[in-house]
Amino acid sequence: MKKILLVSLATVTVLSAQSGETLAKDNGCMECHNIMGKKLAPAFMGTARKNLKWYGNDAKSKIIDSIKNGSKMKYRNFADTEMPAYKHLSDKDLDEVSTWILDLYRSNRNAMPANRRGGR
Ligand code: HEC
Repeated sequence: MKKILLVSLATVTVLSAQSGETLAKDNGCMECHNIMGKKLAPAFMGTARKNLKWYGNDAKSKIIDSIKNGSKMKYRNFADTEMPAYKHLSDKDLDEVSTWILDLYRSNRNAMPANRRGGR
């Protein structure tokens, strides 16, 4: 147990830039999301991959929109849960956290197991 905890802390440290990660932790995002591997909600790396694939350069604004206004039924595997709206986050915070999510994928996509890259 201790070893698993240490390994995952090390992974998070390597994977992360600073304040996007802090925002995600402080706002309860990690209750539902993992960085990699699904939980109650799709993994952040999977959401980044999907949005880059679907929307290219608009990926960040789409992600910001979902965080700010909430989202449901975009990911079929998570139809039972909704992404709550985070209206109180500032534009700067929305920018930081969505940049962090996209960078997680851009820097670590090779670490994703092939069968987890879909997530839909
Ligand atoms: C109560 C659980 C829950 C919490 C807390 C939560 N989410 Fe989500 N999130 C979800 C679910 C469920 C989905 C999938 C929604 C869908 O299918 O449309 C989702 C989807 C997303 C997506 C993908 C949206 C898209 O358009 O592709 C992003 C990015 C995201 N969440 C970021 C966050 C961030 C950042 C926070 C914290 C500020 C957060 N989530 C907190 C449940 C949660």
